[in-house]
Amino acid sequence: MTATLQRRLVDEAAALFRPAGHFAWRFARGKLAQDPLFATLLRTGAIPDASCLVDLGCGQGLLAAWIHVARRAWTEKPDPWPTEWPAPPKVGTYLGIDQSRHDIARAQRALPAFARSFRGDVGTLGTTLLDRCDVTTLFDVLQYLDPAVQEKLLAAVHAGQPPWGVLLLRVGDGASSMASRRVNAVDLVVCAVRGHPRLRLHHRPVEQWIALLGRIGFTVEILDDERETGSSKFANVLLRASRIDAEATPAVR
Ligand SMILES: C[S@@+](CC[C@H](N)C(=O)[O-])C[C@H]1O[C@@H](n2cnc3c(N)ncnc32)[C@H](O)[C@@H]1O
Repeated sequence: MTATLQRRLVDEAAALFRPAGHFAWRFARGKLAQDPLFATLLRTGAIPDASCLVDLGCGQGLLAAWIHVARRAWTEKPDPWPTEWPAPPKVGTYLGIDQSRHDIARAQRALPAFARSFRGDVGTLGTTLLDRCDVTTLFDVLQYLDPAVQEKLLAAVHAGQPPWGVLLLRVGDGASSMASRRVNAVDLVVCAVRGHPRLRLHHRPVEQWIALLGRIGFTVEILDDERETGSSKFANVLLRASRIDAEATPAVR
């Protein structure tokens, strides 16, 4: 992505959060500009067109804002879209769920009409909502859940999603490298800021996440591995899990 296009998308997505206050706007600007996840989602075409996308642990809904401005920029073409990149996804309805009252309040004040957000505990989610969504996202969320709850949630997504559904996850590699320790440290700071100083985090090595998803019945691809690309100082890995094992394809990057 050119620097001009990146700046434009970050500015426009962050501007949506102005009605939600200065903190929401600054947080959006900082996170969208610094976290490689958002450009990676566009570059890899990770999110397919969807009638409904459910974003579990959505925070203040940055993903909805990002999809909205990317699609608009691609449609209106004021800046050239990278030729090697796919079109940004067309998403009919975005549903964001988060347990944080403050995040949901910010999302509700900011997000465009196609996006709705609700307060809720994703650890207790059944299949009812999931069966209406073609895409489920879990970005930097699973480590906040107990291991048994992680497994229950992933199994609910597998059982609930339609057969063509896609689950996208970003997980931090829980193996003991310096980058993994950085992920842990940042998570603990985030917990402390959110008022949970003693919260325990439950990371797993990436290989264990992939094995768990496989046991549940997903086919898993690695879409991006920050340990290898060096796009950040963290050890985050973006995974795509689908229910259909169309062609037992090897892991791709
Ligand atoms: C590191 S933030 C990631 C936010 C968002 N996915 C993003 O990438 O910008 C983790 C989010 O997970 C939410 N979360 C943690 N446990 C949760 C639970 N049991 N139910 C719902 N949300 C939860 C937190 O409130 C927080 O907003």
